Amino acid sequence: MNELVVHNIIKYIGNENKQLYKFDKSQQYELQNIIDRWIIAFMNFPDDFNIINEKMRQELIDKHIVSSTNSHEFMNMLIKKLKQEYDEQVHTSYMLDSKLTHMLSLINPNVAKKLAQYNKEDVYQMLIRYNVQSNQWMVPTVVVDYLHRIFNVTIEAFASPINHRLDTYLSLYTKDKIFGSSGNFFKVDPSFFVGKSSLVNPPFVELVMVKMLNRLTAVFESQTHKNTRFFVVLPNWTDAVFYKLITTSKYKVYQTVLQRGNYFYETPAGKTVVATFNTLFVVLANFTDEIKEKYNDIITVWTSRR
Ligand SMILES: C[S@@+](CC[C@H](N)C(=O)[O-])C[C@H]1O[C@@H](n2cnc3c(N)ncnc32)[C@H](O)[C@@H]1O
Repeated sequence: MNELVVHNIIKYIGNENKQLYKFDKSQQYELQNIIDRWIIAFMNFPDDFNIINEKMRQELIDKHIVSSTNSHEFMNMLIKKLKQEYDEQVHTSYMLDSKLTHMLSLINPNVAKKLAQYNKEDVYQMLIRYNVQSNQWMVPTVVVDYLHRIFNVTIEAFASPINHRLDTYLSLYTKDKIFGSSGNFFKVDPSFFVGKSSLVNPPFVELVMVKMLNRLTAVFESQTHKNTRFFVVLPNWTDAVFYKLITTSKYKVYQTVLQRGNYFYETPAGKTVVATFNTLFVVLANFTDEIKEKYNDIITVWTSRR
């Protein structure tokens, strides 16, 4: 969700009930992250609305944004406002040239250049779609190139028309097909991944990460064809359900942790930034790679200062 929308929501909640809800900077930051996670979870799994809402309510309490007594009332207000803001931003937006130019200036210039070949209105609508998601961190392009060159990684399983580096990529929205997306990770047929190597760097939303891992297992179980492999990037949350699932997977052939401060990620604008959290990097495969030791070299590339 972009900052302006969150700002509007916070302002709205403050105005509705000035005495009860006032947020300091750190609460605003946490609220923004909680809202971002809610949106990603909801866009992926609308049928799990109640579970997703309950998760949000718990996070709001845990992060001291709202007391448990006020949490239900607060949630009702928040969901109502989120839906309203979302509809306004996504469905009723008509194209403004100045806004298009501004949005293009925020993304990687090489991507912006490529988008020039598409219909302006389509580009505008796509940028608006992704404007409601905050900046997502990306595996650095040098690492993606390395994975492609050395390990024949050809699929970017979680991506968008703005942040994909590989020609074959999956993304959240059906409409992204205009921009070359092959579909949604949770909707493509398991055979899509069979016999191929994929980079899997999902949004760090627990429900998404758990369902993603269940799906990877289903891909392995669905076929006898060997040579299917996933390079999975996740936060190193050792007490989370997804952590147990992946670290105990029978398909795990490599596991390491990238330590905060020692490796990099890339922003959609193409900037390299030092990571402030630990990342769990796991390779799942249904074959034993004779060059297994080479997985360490990925980490060397990822941690090299540029
Ligand atoms: C952490 S970013 C990955 C950035 C970059 N493509 C990479 O692999 O490093 C996660 C991306 O997954 C996208 N995404 C969310 N749900 C998805 C889905 N169901 N299928 C494919 N992509 C999805 C988000 O829009 C976002 O662009």
